[in-house]
This record gives sequence, C-alpha cells and structure tokens, in this order.
Amino acid sequence: MLIDGKKIAAELRRETKLEISQLKNKYKKVPGLTVILVGDLPASQIYVRNKEKSAIEVGLKSEIIKYPKSVTEEEILNKVEELNKDNTVSGILVQLPLPEHINKKKVIETISPDKDVDGFHPMNVGNLSSGFKSSIPCTPLGCYHLIKKVEPNLDGKKAIIIGRSNLNGKPMAQLLLKENCTVTITHSKTKNLKKECMEGDIIVAAVGMPKLVKGDWIKKDSIVIDVGINKTQNGIVGDVDFEEVSKIARAITPVPGGVGPMTIACLLQNTVDCFKRSFEKTQ
Ligand code: GUN
Repeated sequence: MLIDGKKIAAELRRETKLEISQLKNKYKKVPGLTVILVGDLPASQIYVRNKEKSAIEVGLKSEIIKYPKSVTEEEILNKVEELNKDNTVSGILVQLPLPEHINKKKVIETISPDKDVDGFHPMNVGNLSSGFKSSIPCTPLGCYHLIKKVEPNLDGKKAIIIGRSNLNGKPMAQLLLKENCTVTITHSKTKNLKKECMEGDIIVAAVGMPKLVKGDWIKKDSIVIDVGINKTQNGIVGDVDFEEVSKIARAITPVPGGVGPMTIACLLQNTVDCFKRSFEKTQ
C-alpha cells in the first residue's frame, strides 16, 4: 500500500483552514507565521516559498523576512526579540541552515518557546521528552500522522529509526515511545543496520543516504516511512530503495509526495496551536 502523503496533507490543511476561519470569527484575528531566511541557498528558498504559499492558502497571515548572508548575529537576535513581542505574530521559524558566523543555538534559544513552531527550543524539546504539552518538530510530527493513519494502535510495535538528528530522529523516537512502541535509534556507528531493520514493524529512515534501505532489510507487514530527499543523477530519491521495498512492506511513503507535504501541513497546524495557546494563557 502506498501512503499518499499529498492527499493526507491536503486533508490536514483543509481542517486547519476551517479552524482558522472559526478562530477568525471568534477572536477577530488570524494566526500569523513569520519566517526568517538568511542567505540564498536554493533549497532553503524553495522550502520557504512553499511554506508561504501554503500558509496563505489556509488563511494564515504570512511574512518572510530575508537577510543577506552577511547579516550579523546581533541583527537576527534583535529581530527575533522584536517578533517575540509582536502580538500579530503567532509563530516564528528561522530557516536552517544558518551561515557559520551565526550561532544557531543562540538563535533557537532566543525564540519564545510559545512561538517556536519548529519545536526546537530546549523548553519544547524537554517538554516533549517528558510527555508534556509542547510544540513538536514538523517532520517527525508529519511522519507520526502517516504511521497512525496506517496503524492506529502502536502498542508494543518495534520501531527502528535510522538517524539521530535533533530535527528528526530524536523527536521521532519520543513520539513513538509515547505511543508505546519499543524504539531503537540507529545511526552511522550502528553495528548491523540490516539486522536491526529486519526486526522493525515500523521503519523511519531519516539519514540522507540514497536508497540505503533494501528489500531484504524489511519484514513483511512493516510500515516504512522515508524522510530522505537525496539529489542523484537519476533525480530525487529517498533513503529507501522504493522499487524493492514497496514489494515487501505493508505500507510505504513515496519520495516525493510522502513526508514532504506533511511537514508543511504540520507547520501550519503548529502555528494555529501557538495562536490558540496564546489566548489560553491570557484568559
Ligand atoms: N531546514 C530544513 N528543515 C527545516 C525545518 O524543519 N525547520 C527549519 N527551521 N529549518 C529547516
């Protein structure tokens, strides 16, 4: 079975759009998302453009603030602090990667945890790992929705995560732990990755290695989520060998059209959630 991320993301965006129109009626205000983009990396520019297009389409107030690569760290920190105080801004996203002279950790920690739509602030990371309410990073959240669509009850399932990044692997593990999975996080130093994968009821590949996961790595009936976006001579491919694995797995996401559209849909919903929490706090 193919997991149609495009279709599931479109459903999620429809729900978000409806919720925004209801919030607009109730509060006479719409949630706002502000994205800070530094430099001119083509991939970042494409991501940010897609985010803006989707934000406008669901009825969010959307703003992109662009800086040249030469911008100082102080300028970025001052802007983030200004946005923290601006009550027309519900969510702040600083597009990564940042140029080397800007301290990413400092920038992330300056964003108010209440407006941290990426869920990267240590307060949100800590809340997620403690099982408390928090903003949740958009890509693993999107993967989580896709897995739950296929299998609503994850109790006792064995989940193998490939990759240990703060963006994907680690928050993915927290989300699946909360769903009572037995979670293994694998990475570049893992001894026998194939053997680990062969045990998995759920595989999430987020490692950035083209077609790493092969057909004979996968248990029949497994759910395979491919987070990879790798540019190759033969076009864009994921971290999973789709040709091989799709013949064995119970369900698999394609690349493109799997996780990608879900990431943006989750970002929009995270912005709405920040907006709602800001009203809960003041009432
Ligand atoms: N760059 C690539 N993915 C992401 C993301 O999810 N959030 C941010 N802020 N930057 C990114």
